[in-house]
Amino acid sequence: MPYYSKLGLLPQKRHVQFRRPDGVLYSEELFGTEGFTGPSSTMYHIHPPTQVYGWKKLYSTAVEYVETDVMRMRHTMTGGPRMAAKGDWVTGQVVLYGNADCEMAVCNPAEQMKYHFKNGQGDECHFIHFGSGVCHTMMGTLRFGPKDYLIIPKGVIYTIVWDKRKNGPDGKPTDGGPSIENTPFGRVLLIETANGSHIGPPRRYVSKDTSQFLEHSPYCERDLKIPEYPLTWDEKGEFEVRIKARNLVHSYMYHYHPLDVVGWDGCYYPYIFNIDDFAPITGKLHMPPPIHQTFEAHNFVICSFCPRMLDYHPQAIKVPYNHSNLDSDEVLYYVEGNFGSRKGIEVGSLTAHPQGIPHGPHPGTIEASLSATYTGELAVMCDTFRPLHPTKAALKMDDEKYPASWQGEHFPGLTSGQIHLQKDGSSNGHAKVPVFEHRSEANVWAPNTVEPSNGHANGRSKPASSKSGPRAGSKPASKTIAPASKGAKPSGKR
Ligand SMILES: [Fe+2]
Repeated sequence: MPYYSKLGLLPQKRHVQFRRPDGVLYSEELFGTEGFTGPSSTMYHIHPPTQVYGWKKLYSTAVEYVETDVMRMRHTMTGGPRMAAKGDWVTGQVVLYGNADCEMAVCNPAEQMKYHFKNGQGDECHFIHFGSGVCHTMMGTLRFGPKDYLIIPKGVIYTIVWDKRKNGPDGKPTDGGPSIENTPFGRVLLIETANGSHIGPPRRYVSKDTSQFLEHSPYCERDLKIPEYPLTWDEKGEFEVRIKARNLVHSYMYHYHPLDVVGWDGCYYPYIFNIDDFAPITGKLHMPPPIHQTFEAHNFVICSFCPRMLDYHPQAIKVPYNHSNLDSDEVLYYVEGNFGSRKGIEVGSLTAHPQGIPHGPHPGTIEASLSATYTGELAVMCDTFRPLHPTKAALKMDDEKYPASWQGEHFPGLTSGQIHLQKDGSSNGHAKVPVFEHRSEANVWAPNTVEPSNGHANGRSKPASSKSGPRAGSKPASKTIAPASKGAKPSGKR
């Protein structure tokens, strides 16, 4: 994270004597990135963090990609009963897409974690689709719930305790999620760095001078949940910490509880951001995908497509235009709502659109969207600069019809052979586009036009000089706006 935080007990200065109640020194650990020139935190352990033993190899996490020479649109349907629950928070992760920079997995765990885990090769961004629980980390506790992004940086030791899901009197889960039989704890989309880089907010949203989120950012510090108490477990015994590095998981043993930190401070720690706290940037005309960007790492970005007001130009096309994202592959994970520009997409679907192939609205969706003013769509997108490849698991849930889903009548009645562009002398070859007036007395905010019964505009004391309000003799603002029908006729009707 870009900004400084702290929790627990700290000595007044770094690298000085700091003693436990029994007089023994706490063990200081600098937890640093980029050769100790990047974000770091300083922690104080009850026990020296070096006292680990018993390492043994458990399993490989190397991902095998398939069809690496096939470039086509893909639709991976992971919703419903297609992905049976298996493993735990870590071993249940099923990688579906990835490359040398990131891996995307969906996890539907069947059991609780019985150990602690440390990802020593990448940052983890877990998007909690369904379910809730507690993430206990060496830097404090984070309670998570649906639609949270849980960011766990490389090296942080943690474990997960899921809440129990329950059925209501109607026999359906009280959290509105999938059946408990299929999804006993929850469902998570994981985006993990495979290139060792770190996941953080887009740099353009953070001040280079102060690290503060800037005013044009769609979220800020107040939206982030940072670790809280409980922080410290002072227990001796046999504790397993599974460490992922070099595409292998090793089992290490600690003779004390691995979450034995009594205090830490710095700019490197896990945190939560809930997607509902993302304030979408909207516009008069369609805004491009970067306005949805929420996080970034080296060679990929993570975006949030959230419920929002749609474009307000009277002739705006509300669904995204056809586009070629020439330098990126795009994967979208559909969370909820009706995704306006796509048909046949389910909750839990992933679509993959490779660079080199234009994509855009499905047939019929443009006309169908024109009168809409709001979208309830919710999706998480990961765009990568390097080509993404599917895994065998993704192919098992592949919708083979998807690449052809743009075929068919986009605009029924469209004729061909009728359009011949040539200069007509008056328009320099450009077609005239009619522009309609969309302001009216009903929809323009004009606060000083209504005089309250006390005669004071806005109910406040009348200013000494009326010049600061509406000018004497001027017409109220709303009446100065000529409705479209009274002004110039739309050029298209001339
Ligand atoms: Fe796209």
